[in-house]
Amino acid sequence: MEIIYFFCIFTLMNLLVQKKHAPAADRNKEPILEVLKGCLPNHGTILEIASGTGQHAVHFIRNLPNHYWQPSDPNGDSRNSISAWWWEVQLNNILPPLDINTQDDIWSVEKIILPLPVSSLVCINMIHISPWESTIGLMKGAARILPSDGILYLYGPYKVKGKHTAPSNELFDITLKSQNPKWGVRDLEDVKKMASDHGLTFVKTVDMPANNLSVIFKK
Ligand SMILES: C[S@@+](CC[C@H](N)C(=O)[O-])C[C@H]1O[C@@H](n2cnc3c(N)ncnc32)[C@H](O)[C@@H]1O
Repeated sequence: MEIIYFFCIFTLMNLLVQKKHAPAADRNKEPILEVLKGCLPNHGTILEIASGTGQHAVHFIRNLPNHYWQPSDPNGDSRNSISAWWWEVQLNNILPPLDINTQDDIWSVEKIILPLPVSSLVCINMIHISPWESTIGLMKGAARILPSDGILYLYGPYKVKGKHTAPSNELFDITLKSQNPKWGVRDLEDVKKMASDHGLTFVKTVDMPANNLSVIFKK
C-alpha cells in the first residue's frame, strides 16, 4: 500500500516539475478563443499542431465542451508539459499529446482511432518559428486530414503584401532570423498560396492584439 502511495506522489511531483508556462499564451488565449468560437464547427476533434506548453489546450477545451482536443508537439519536453497541464484539469475531452512533426509524410494521428473524427486544425505561433518546410508539411497534412468544410486556424505575426505591419514585428523577424536563418515572419500571401496549392480556401483574417493575425482557411 505504501509503495503505491509513494509511487503516486512521485508521479505527481514528476508531472508538476515538467509543467511549463509561457506568459504570451496567457495573454493571447482569450482573444484566440473568441475567434475559435466563431469559426470552428460545433463538433468533432480539434487537432492542435505545435501545442507548446499545453496552456492553450486546457483553456480552449474548458470553453469548448462539445469537442475533443488532440494536442501535439514534436518536442518531448512540450509533450510532458501538456500532460502536466492535463493532469491538473483532468478533463476527459483532452486526449494524450501526440508526437507530430508537420514535416513527416504521415502524422501519428492518421494511425490511430479518435473518439470523434478531426473536424479542424489549430496551429498557433509555429509558422514563423520553424523552417518554411514545416508550413508546407502543415498544408499537406491539412489536405489529407481535414474533411470537406474542415477549418485550418493559424495565429501569429505576418507580413502583408511583403511589408511588416509594425516595427515590433520587423524587430521580431530580425531576432528570429538571428536564432535560425530558416525562421522568420512569413508573408501572408505566401501562406495563402501554399494553402491554395493544397486545396484550402482562404476565408478571412482577424486582427489580433500585439500585431498578430488569426488566419482562417476552409477545405
Ligand atoms: C513558439 S512555440 C508555440 C507553442 C504554442 N502554440 C504557443 O503559442 O504557446 C512553437 C512550437 O512549434 C513546435 N514546432 C516547431 N516545428 C514544428 C513542426 N515542424 N511541426 C510541429 N510542431 C513544430 C515547437 O516544438 C514549439 O512547441
